[in-house]
Amino acid sequence: MSQYSFSPSGDKFQLPDQEDYPKEFERLREVVTSQRDLGREIVLVMGLGFVGAVMAAVVADAEDGKGSPTKFVIGMQRPSTRSYWKIPLLNRGIPPVSSEDPEVPLIINRCVNEKRTLTATFTYDALRLADVVVVDVQCDYLKESLGNVRNGQAEMKALEESFEIIAQNITPQTLVLIETTVAPGTTEQIAYPIMRKMFRKRGITSDPVLAHSYERVMPGKNYVSSIRDFWRVCSGVNEESTQRVAKFLKEVLNTEKFPLTVLDRPIESETAKIVENSFRATILAFLDEWSHFAEQNGVDLIKVIHAIKVRPTHSNIIFPGPGIGGYCLPKDGGLGLWAYRHIHGFEDDIFKMTPLAIDINDTRSLHVAQLTRDALRNIGRPIASAEILVLGASYREDVGDTRYSGSELIVRRLTEMGAELRVHDPYVLHWWEFEKQDEYPASSHSLRKFFRGQERLKDLRVEPDLKKALHGADAVILAVRHQAYLRLDPDEVVENAGQPTAVIDCFGILDDERIKRYFELGCEVKGLGRGHVKRIKDQVREEKEKMLVELPLKVGRSKV
Ligand SMILES: NC(=O)c1ccc[n+]([C@@H]2O[C@H](COP(=O)([O-])OP(=O)(O)OC[C@H]3O[C@@H](n4cnc5c(N)ncnc54)[C@H](O)[C@@H]3O)[C@@H](O)[C@H]2O)c1
Repeated sequence: MSQYSFSPSGDKFQLPDQEDYPKEFERLREVVTSQRDLGREIVLVMGLGFVGAVMAAVVADAEDGKGSPTKFVIGMQRPSTRSYWKIPLLNRGIPPVSSEDPEVPLIINRCVNEKRTLTATFTYDALRLADVVVVDVQCDYLKESLGNVRNGQAEMKALEESFEIIAQNITPQTLVLIETTVAPGTTEQIAYPIMRKMFRKRGITSDPVLAHSYERVMPGKNYVSSIRDFWRVCSGVNEESTQRVAKFLKEVLNTEKFPLTVLDRPIESETAKIVENSFRATILAFLDEWSHFAEQNGVDLIKVIHAIKVRPTHSNIIFPGPGIGGYCLPKDGGLGLWAYRHIHGFEDDIFKMTPLAIDINDTRSLHVAQLTRDALRNIGRPIASAEILVLGASYREDVGDTRYSGSELIVRRLTEMGAELRVHDPYVLHWWEFEKQDEYPASSHSLRKFFRGQERLKDLRVEPDLKKALHGADAVILAVRHQAYLRLDPDEVVENAGQPTAVIDCFGILDDERIKRYFELGCEVKGLGRGHVKRIKDQVREEKEKMLVELPLKVGRSKV
């Protein structure tokens, strides 16, 4: 029976049959032959996700000093029902990822339809044609309990299989560049032995040309630039690999302006990535306790942060929002912990800060549910059966990536507490974490398992019309700093809701003027780290009381 894969916008694509594979390889072989005649190097990017899709385009866009393309890129993606749609979409010149960066559709269309230096495929046979293989598949970290990263493990199986398939197909001289964020030690102690063993099985006597260089991509407004015009770190398993990877990266990235750092060993490059993200997770987690302090003591943490940030030494202090989501920060430190024990064999417990930071970040958004409950109570509405609108499903502003977003936990906890949830997000068409919660991101990965009463969330749909989403809402949670939410007018919110609402600001989105207006309109406002709202509330109440006292006096006077 035929199987189908659906794109987020609902396009339906039939998965390839067995007989499609030889035809597809023939298509690739022909195009590669003509591209080689043009003197272009053939690069295969494995995994067309958030990183691979745009990395593939950046490589395909590379040119020599005379403006001629130097690479031909084959984007290779597993033909699963979940991901196959990315291939036909990309082959039409349409990005398989959504973002605010206008350069993403431009670069992909240019490379597919104008320069004709980019194509996508589903067959592993394509590996046989590559001079360079860039590995951009995922390496997940599975947590067994909420708020305890120690109780989890790296999921190495898919990655290990990928290394085997690569070594089974590539030529001995193909450079394999691992960009996936991996547990430190993976390149040398897992990938290298697997590939070498496969090489020997194939009768290849040379060693694999293998390197690691991690991505620092930020899929937001500067998505393309964050890959191409950004500093890179790399390292190879031997001298030849190091030279090859440095040469490749210099040819495809803007390394003149953003110089490359070449480290001695891949474990150093892998560790750099994990430390980089653990550092970020830690500075974000650090403010969680001060956020609670601020709420309880009339302090606006947003203004405090602005005050501190003027010190150049403290310019990277950052407000944590409703937890730290995204694919990387919640898991990368875990990969480090896991590697220490399971790759390097140590038994002692050296990690204190990294797991604590991740655990704090993983549970911070639960506090939003408490604030919502309290705000609703203050306007006389019980949380059970309240209609609550969450504005923003993704993990950060102006992207459509919902992976491990704080909003997901907010929805799950409030549902558990009996509320009815709705959601709006201009970048997200389907919130698969709910719509397909039995199988997405994978059955064992869904955060559903940490909450009760989640069944009905399968029916949660993203409402594209903000006005409709607001209609009848008892509470509005400003969860993400999307452009569309920064200037929301309180009068319009209340008018569209049809009643005063509870407003929960999770990300310092409301300025004091708007907070005041919400109170004047009869709303209740609460916010993460925003203790000063109580002052504004008192001020509005005093002004109202004063008016009530003055009104009869004025009326009396005008009668005299
Ligand atoms: N998303 C980010 O912002 C970001 C930033 C820096 C680093 N990274 C790292 O980059 C890596 C990739 O992340 P991502 O966000 O692109 O993940 P993703 O899940 O969006 O993409 C991975 C893709 O690889 C495909 N895939 C998996 N196994 C495959 C195989 N054997 N053959 C072909 N395709 C396969 C999947 O179907 C998917 O499309 C991860 O290690 C991640 O930690 C991500």
